[in-house]
Amino acid sequence: MKVTILKTAQEIGRTAGEMFVQTVLAKPDAVLGLATGATPLPTYDYMANACKEGRVSFKDVSTFNLDEYCDLPKSHKNSYFTFMTENLFSKIDVNSANVHFLDGNAPDAEAESRRYAAEIERAGGIDIQFLGIGRNGHIAFNEPSDKFTNDAFKVQLTESTIEANSMYFDDVPMPRFAMTMGVGSIMRAKKIVLVATGKSKAEAVFAMIKGDIDPHCPASILKAHPDCTVLLDEDAASLL
Ligand code: GLP
Repeated sequence: MKVTILKTAQEIGRTAGEMFVQTVLAKPDAVLGLATGATPLPTYDYMANACKEGRVSFKDVSTFNLDEYCDLPKSHKNSYFTFMTENLFSKIDVNSANVHFLDGNAPDAEAESRRYAAEIERAGGIDIQFLGIGRNGHIAFNEPSDKFTNDAFKVQLTESTIEANSMYFDDVPMPRFAMTMGVGSIMRAKKIVLVATGKSKAEAVFAMIKGDIDPHCPASILKAHPDCTVLLDEDAASLL
């Protein structure tokens, strides 16, 4: 795990964004694993600007998002599909046919998990996986638990996660369940970049970097990945 502490969220966005740009320049049909949340936004701005300036084209890439809420229409303003469309996909030249999401409304979660795993495999596997981290050390929606998961599954969200995200929901209550890629699916990515900013992430970052590999801090498994970069601001790194 390569840990870098940077001064601002913008610098983190530039650094992570440039990793994505370089991946696509080296392999125009790269497979990108993408994340939602506030922390990735400067990275997505950087990627959108690089595309606008003509420095990179995303027309041949495939994207796979980490997770999606259950029991929320895909077109709802708070779905992760809408989040990605507004913050990245509408600003780059990605082909919408190559954009992949877990279906949070799939009637059979296990079949949906198999479908997603097969699509990732058909695309050739994820070249670079983007991650944020939850306050409780979750990655995607892999909440702290007694064991690590492998492929995608339906998860019941914890109170900590509901508390951190419910401010975004003003018309409907925040969903209690989500479909998420498993820890195994994340770990199979060739390269991983995790971003964390702010004091609210300091404890999770400490447990991820200094603690044992333990499913009660799902992000701690990333220490076992051969090519994982962690980009932090000083607040997120303040307990290290
Ligand atoms: C949600 C997402 C995660 C994300 C986390 C932190 O739980 N499922 O993928 O890492 O929020 O989001 P933020 O960056 O807004 O703190």
